[in-house]
Amino acid sequence: MSSILDTIQQRRSIRKYKNQEVPIEKIKTVLHAANWAPSNGNHQPWCFVVAKGKPREEICAVFSDWAQGYIPNAPYIPAEKKKGMLEYAKDFGGAPVHIIVTYEIDEDAITTEESLRAASAAIQNLCLAAYEEGLGTVWIAGEVAAKEETKKILQLPKNQGIAGIIPIGYPDMNPPAPEREDPDLSKKVTWLGF
Ligand SMILES: Cc1cc2nc3c(=O)[nH]c(=O)nc-3n(C[C@H](O)[C@H](O)[C@H](O)COP(=O)(O)O)c2cc1C
Repeated sequence: MSSILDTIQQRRSIRKYKNQEVPIEKIKTVLHAANWAPSNGNHQPWCFVVAKGKPREEICAVFSDWAQGYIPNAPYIPAEKKKGMLEYAKDFGGAPVHIIVTYEIDEDAITTEESLRAASAAIQNLCLAAYEEGLGTVWIAGEVAAKEETKKILQLPKNQGIAGIIPIGYPDMNPPAPEREDPDLSKKVTWLGF
């Protein structure tokens, strides 16, 4: 088994997947890993929706509709990258399953923020466990996660928000690691009292 540090460094966002079913046991393994995340007051404010078939296609359509309008007009995306990004946006690169991680929306804004932090920790656990199981993932948030239409497809109650939509499947790419800013951490870390 690889060390946790290797797994953290080697996990990549995967944007092209094989046309291959993911065994349900593997999905359960990554869900259990997510469920072991730390949380505010051990409140465990996350839930999971596992979507394939029609609901998966409907989520893809929401993302794709948004991306077809957004990507061609985004000035910061290099022109030569737009075609590939639009292809990926059709169905998140063909991932056969999506795991949606939700968090509780509370009347109190700080509690809601805490819940989103905890659900984010659950997502990272999920992505790392998936990597160890030979599966790829990519964390999708932004517009598609914020849209009421997506919440409706997933039949979420009003008090649940989406922390991430995680397409999951067998990777059909081996992307290089994107560079980290300040890799020696000479600028991002402030040491106080040392
Ligand atoms: C909160 C959050 C939102 C993200 N949203 C998207 C997204 O909408 N589409 C996408 O392709 N990747 C998305 N990503 C993945 C990042 O692009 C990716 O993590 C980053 O480029 C670093 O690459 P790596 O994951 O391979 O290390 C998101 C990641 C996070 C944490």
